[in-house]
Amino acid sequence: MFSPDQVRKYYDTMTASYLQIYGEVIQAFRPGKPATLLHYIAKSSGLKYGMRILDAGCGVCGPAIFFAKEYKVKVDAVTISPVQVAEARRKIAAQKIQHLVQIKEGDYHQLTSCFEPGKYDAVYFLESLGHSNDIKRVISASYEMLKNGGYIYIKDFYRKISYDTAQQKKTDAVIESVNQHYQYNTLDLNTVVETLRSSGFEIVFIKRFDFKDDISVRFEFEKTHNIDIFEGQPEFYPAEWLEIKCLKP
Ligand SMILES: C[S@@+](CC[C@H](N)C(=O)[O-])C[C@H]1O[C@@H](n2cnc3c(N)ncnc32)[C@H](O)[C@@H]1O
Repeated sequence: MFSPDQVRKYYDTMTASYLQIYGEVIQAFRPGKPATLLHYIAKSSGLKYGMRILDAGCGVCGPAIFFAKEYKVKVDAVTISPVQVAEARRKIAAQKIQHLVQIKEGDYHQLTSCFEPGKYDAVYFLESLGHSNDIKRVISASYEMLKNGGYIYIKDFYRKISYDTAQQKKTDAVIESVNQHYQYNTLDLNTVVETLRSSGFEIVFIKRFDFKDDISVRFEFEKTHNIDIFEGQPEFYPAEWLEIKCLKP
């Protein structure tokens, strides 16, 4: 499994390229426009005017700044990468939005020592939880951070599973390749659901995204970095992209 230290080094090295190709929203599963994606997430998750939210694995605060400006929410954001923190601080200052968005360098496995527990209406993981090497710790910490009635929202992908052992072998090989290229620890849906429920969360929904995936940005990034996750084999979907929302009762 990749450790937070390895993930930090990865983003410190790669953030410039992500900014160039992805822009301020570092999410691979997306419709054509980042604003469409972020409005979708806000609406689907139930983001409301005036909420106080935590963005765990915030990148360069593209989503945090957008949510603060569009929905007038207060966002505390954390990323493991100091390069991303510096970039995010520049963006927050340029938008004069310091009163709404605060960023810290930190490890989301230790959320309770980054910000004050029990104060948040929502915790967001936007393509970030799959970098964790200990989801039990992250999910329990998220639970601690929330007020009663608050929610966790997770956007991520989950390894497909099959009784067909040949297919499973092919899937697992591609997932391993994704993990190696992106320093990811691709999530297992059953484990995530069990961890959420054991931590005290109640499921609101687990569903597919209601937009078509536009692969052009991811394609451009992988071409630029000579990433071929299928290693010359015909392409297929090795994972399911899902949005999960759970409540702290
Ligand atoms: C694919 S990027 C997504 C960034 C952001 N959510 C967005 O939508 O633009 C993954 C993010 O997770 C962060 N991350 C990964 N592991 C982390 C950890 N242990 N603690 C804090 N942040 C972490 C990375 O630094 C990076 O910002």
